[in-house]
Amino acid sequence: MRKPFIAANWKMNKTLGETRSFLTEFIPLVQDVKDIDIIIAPPFTSLQSASELIRNTNIKLSAQDIFYEDKGAYTGAISPVMLKDAGCTYVIIGHSERRQYFKETDEVINKKIKAARQHGLNVIFCIGESLEERESKKTLDILKMEITEGLRDVHLDGVVVAYEPIWAIGTGKTATPEQAQEAHKYIREQLALNYGDRAKEVRILYGGSATPENIDSLMNCEDVDGALVGGASLKADSFARIVKFKRQ
Ligand code: PGA
Repeated sequence: MRKPFIAANWKMNKTLGETRSFLTEFIPLVQDVKDIDIIIAPPFTSLQSASELIRNTNIKLSAQDIFYEDKGAYTGAISPVMLKDAGCTYVIIGHSERRQYFKETDEVINKKIKAARQHGLNVIFCIGESLEERESKKTLDILKMEITEGLRDVHLDGVVVAYEPIWAIGTGKTATPEQAQEAHKYIREQLALNYGDRAKEVRILYGGSATPENIDSLMNCEDVDGALVGGASLKADSFARIVKFKRQ
């Protein structure tokens, strides 16, 4: 059995004050939830404060990005050591917004994943196709390439994969459960080619306009083990409902 995994990706949202208000409201809403990994990924500036607030709760902390060197002359970058120091146990790597706006390549993403794992940080590794790629029937090829390049020489321990079709991110257009299941199943098959039976244990999250309204049907899919939630994770009650999804 794969333990469900629900993560909030706040992106470039929430000041320190807003982080505190969210957590003050959110922690009691989910304190009785068991057997689900609950993760929040605030911006760097809120990490330490969030880490203090979630101490002794069932919520874990993730960063949204990382750099692959431990320290040095890399203006603006944050190292694995610093993330651990701030209380993170997870880091999101390869998000499509990092690929698009910060020109991250599969090679850079692979280096980041290796650096995170070397330091014992768990990784939420994001992959997914654009609308153009889907319409030209390249979805599975893109997923295969991103998995092969991103996970080159990486063990699967401590890695969670997030399937995030770019056309569904922040657009209100969610993948149908059938589309999600098809992609997730394919991702698991690709992982099995490299890692054998270990692929059966890997959690594969869906991301892209996941909401309280559609989470139940997405979580009903056999290979959907959780969600990476952007917009609908910014409000405590909305994210709590997603954490408390219902499988039929
Ligand atoms: P969204 O973002 O839920 O706002 O579509 C998901 C993500 O980008 O991780």
